[in-house]
Amino acid sequence: MKHITLIAAAVAATLGSMAFADGHEANPAVKARQAHMQLYAHNIGILGGMAQGKIDYDAALAQIAADNLAAVAAMNETTYWIEGTAEGTKALPTIWDNMDDFMVKQDGLTVASAAMAEVAGTDLASLQGAMGDLGGTCSACHREYRQRN
Ligand code: HEC
Repeated sequence: MKHITLIAAAVAATLGSMAFADGHEANPAVKARQAHMQLYAHNIGILGGMAQGKIDYDAALAQIAADNLAAVAAMNETTYWIEGTAEGTKALPTIWDNMDDFMVKQDGLTVASAAMAEVAGTDLASLQGAMGDLGGTCSACHREYRQRN
């Protein structure tokens, strides 16, 4: 009997800590913002690959990637960045002490991705010309507000 009680307690403790560990990962707002970031990464990966000559330049494909990136960047992210959801994620809690600056950094990406969408389908040189500003807006925010490892 005592044995069963101990097992039950161990199971309860395991489930309890799993629920805790999963708490933030499973938060739909956290999943949504990380998925949003993955869409950035996918689309900028296509543009960056072309800029670096790792993918052949294709005007139609470049335009699609740039339009997608600009569309995602234009979304209002207010519902993703819920205070208290940093733990267990790479978001730094300082985001919530500097929400105005965080949004300024987000706006920087909105502007740079719109600029990329203006020129990505023109030619490779134009795409390459817009790439530095665009990539800079990702790292400007990550440098301040994302954990490094
Ligand atoms: C306004 C700030 C901001 C901007 C701009 C930004 N990011 Fe992020 N990014 C973050 C934060 C904060 C995290 C950590 C989120 C978390 O772990 O919940 C993150 C996480 C990520 C991740 C990991 C997502 C995951 O699945 O855990 C990728 C990939 C990423 N960003 C790519 C990009 C790219 C590419 C750009 C530019 C096109 C970009 N980000 C622009 C703040 C930003």
